[in-house]
Amino acid sequence: MKCYYLWTIGCQMNDADSRQMAEGLESLGYAATRRPEEADVIVLNTCVVRQSAEDKVYGRLSSLKPIKQKRPEAILALMGCAVEEDTSSLQQRFPYVDLFVRPSDTESLIDFIASHNGTADHWQPASSFQCPVSCYVPVMYGCDHLCTYCIVRLRRGRQRSKRPAEIVDEVQCLVERRTREVTLLGQNVDAYGHDLPDQPTLAVLLEAVHEIDGLWRLRFLTSHPADMANELIEAVADLPKVCEYLEIPIQSGDDKILKRMLRRYTIAQYRELVAKIRERIPKVALATDVIVGFPGETEKQFMNTCDLLREIRFDVVHVAAYSPRPGTAACRLPDDVPPQEKERRRKAVEELQKQIAGEINALLLRQAVEVLVEERHKGKWRGRTRTNKLVFFEDERDWRGKLARVQITWTGPWSMQGSPV
Ligand code: SAM
Ligand code: F3S
Repeated sequence: MKCYYLWTIGCQMNDADSRQMAEGLESLGYAATRRPEEADVIVLNTCVVRQSAEDKVYGRLSSLKPIKQKRPEAILALMGCAVEEDTSSLQQRFPYVDLFVRPSDTESLIDFIASHNGTADHWQPASSFQCPVSCYVPVMYGCDHLCTYCIVRLRRGRQRSKRPAEIVDEVQCLVERRTREVTLLGQNVDAYGHDLPDQPTLAVLLEAVHEIDGLWRLRFLTSHPADMANELIEAVADLPKVCEYLEIPIQSGDDKILKRMLRRYTIAQYRELVAKIRERIPKVALATDVIVGFPGETEKQFMNTCDLLREIRFDVVHVAAYSPRPGTAACRLPDDVPPQEKERRRKAVEELQKQIAGEINALLLRQAVEVLVEERHKGKWRGRTRTNKLVFFEDERDWRGKLARVQITWTGPWSMQGSPV
């Protein structure tokens, strides 16, 4: 049997694309393998959001060169944000790569492989392909914001939303294959629909998807603070399947830095947004992204970020050290926070958040929570609460794809444990 090897790093969008690709390849009769040396198709689905990710991609690609030399008939494809519109320099640097695929263009990749095999007209639905209990569904590609540090919008282009009917069909199809929770994805998902002729909003899309029988939970990410409309907050509050969990990147706790990042909101506006959300959705869990060491960030400005994190008390903070990216506006600013200092700030935020998340999660101790069980992991069932807390429990019964009531017996900053009641 022919095999494929799929390597993915980066955001949830890449995870979603890879799942779609795996399904497409299995439709063509390929089976997954963990060994690239035996694969007939090798795909690297890549991320270049920071230099460290880009280094990993090129390291992985170079390590595949001897495999490709040994088996020139194997197809090697590079996909994702490493692939610019003009691929000539990539072609020069990596002549052994057969195919360069733009981010999220899974269709081109599958078409290429199908026509390479002469199977373009004989696609078989991969009936054996198991859809995850909780599945990501991209609803839009690209982004119309101009955050000065961000390469993703350069690689993924302007915002392109899918039509609501197409998304509803896709979710319906997943639910028929036993998916119970979907997370609607976009780089900037709360701007969904602005680019479509009748401009449907994310709130309208949530209502449409909410109607699907057999779907139990609905989420969306990532939201831009400046695009979060009251109508959307109302939809989260009113639609029972929409979970009380929002990811709203703040990036910095300092107005001057936010301005230089071109984030288009102030700290006061962000605070107001959080207050409004917490008033309307009292049990909401909030996640955010923070960049430390942006050009010119002083110790005082960094402390402003820490103070804001202490004040808002997010459930989750994804923190990254600023990494200058070619072609972005911030890349022209002097990268003047030394690497060790960026790392110190990153670790300080991580430590602070560990403490805050530990305290927030400890409030769930001895409480019974609803967990949608996704899979068994190292002998334990693993699932999430509506607020996206990771819960593990042991039990002999088969819980995959079921809702369990779990009494929490241990909590930590990143996960908790319990037993079913
Ligand atoms: N749409 C989201 C928003 O509203 O901010 C973010 C999408 S971005 C691709 C994912 C995260 O990567 C960002 O929130 C940011 O924290 C981080 N990131 C992006 N560019 C970065 C850079 N040059 N250096 C460090 N972190 C970066
Ligand atoms: Fe990037 Fe900002 Fe869009 S972080 S993906 S330009 S919202």
